[in-house]
Amino acid sequence: MRNWLCVCSILFLSGSQSIEVQIESPRRIAYDYSDMYEQINPSTAKVFTDTGHGSRFLVNATGLIATNHHVVRNARYLAMQRLGPREIMASMVDPAANFIWRSVSTTVTSQGTEEKAPQNESEWTDLRSAANLLAEGGRLLKKASQGEGDEDWLKWSQAVVDSATLTLEAIESKNAEQVFEAGDAIYKTCVGCHGGYWRMSSP
Ligand code: HEC
Repeated sequence: MRNWLCVCSILFLSGSQSIEVQIESPRRIAYDYSDMYEQINPSTAKVFTDTGHGSRFLVNATGLIATNHHVVRNARYLAMQRLGPREIMASMVDPAANFIWRSVSTTVTSQGTEEKAPQNESEWTDLRSAANLLAEGGRLLKKASQGEGDEDWLKWSQAVVDSATLTLEAIESKNAEQVFEAGDAIYKTCVGCHGGYWRMSSP
C-alpha cells in the first residue's frame, strides 16, 4: 500500500479539550511509514475532521503530528483530542514500566540465585525503547489537564520523566544493577501519584 504522510504543526491546548486548526497544504514526506506508525502507535491522539471520521495521529512532545494524507485530504478543519491520564497509563506508562521491571530481577531458589538482565544488544535496545516510552508518557502526563496549576501533579509527572532518564543512563552503561535501582524510582512515582489522585495505592 502506497500511503503517504503529511506533517502538520499544532498548538496544544489543555487536556481533553479539542482544538481546531486550519490545514495548510500537506507536505509530502514519505511513501510508507507503516512500520514507524506501528512502533509509535501508543503515542497517538484522536483526530476528528469535518468529514466526520475519527482517526489516529502520531504525536510527539513538541506538538508535531503526522497522519496519513487521506485523513486530511478533503478536510477544511481538524480537531484533535489528546490522550487523558487513563489512556497514557494503559498504553504507555504501565506497559513500559512493567517491561523495565521484568527486564532485571534476582530470583533466589534452593538451586541458587538467578540474576536476570538483558543478554545482548537487541535486548538492551528493547529496554531503551521501553524507557523512552515511559519518558514520553511522563511528558504527556505533564501536559494533561490535571497538570494545570497543580504542582503535585506536575511533580509526579516530572518524577516519571526523571526515573525514565535514570533508566536510560543505566542502559547507556549497561548496568543491570542500576536499572534495578531505577525500577525502584519508577515504582515510587506510581505509588506517589496514585496515592493522591487515584483510589489505588500500588501499580
Ligand atoms: C502523575 C500521576 C500518575 C503517575 C506518576 C502514575 N499514575 Fe497511573 N494513574 C493515574 C491516574 C489519575 C489514574 C486513573 C485514571 C482514570 O481512571 O481516569 C491512573 C491509572 C492507572 C492504571 C489503570 C489504567 C486503566 O486502564 O484504568 C494503571 C494500570 C496505572 N495507572 C499504572 C501506573 C504505573 C505502573 C505507574 C508508574 C510507572 C503509574 N501508573 C504512575 C496517575 C498516575
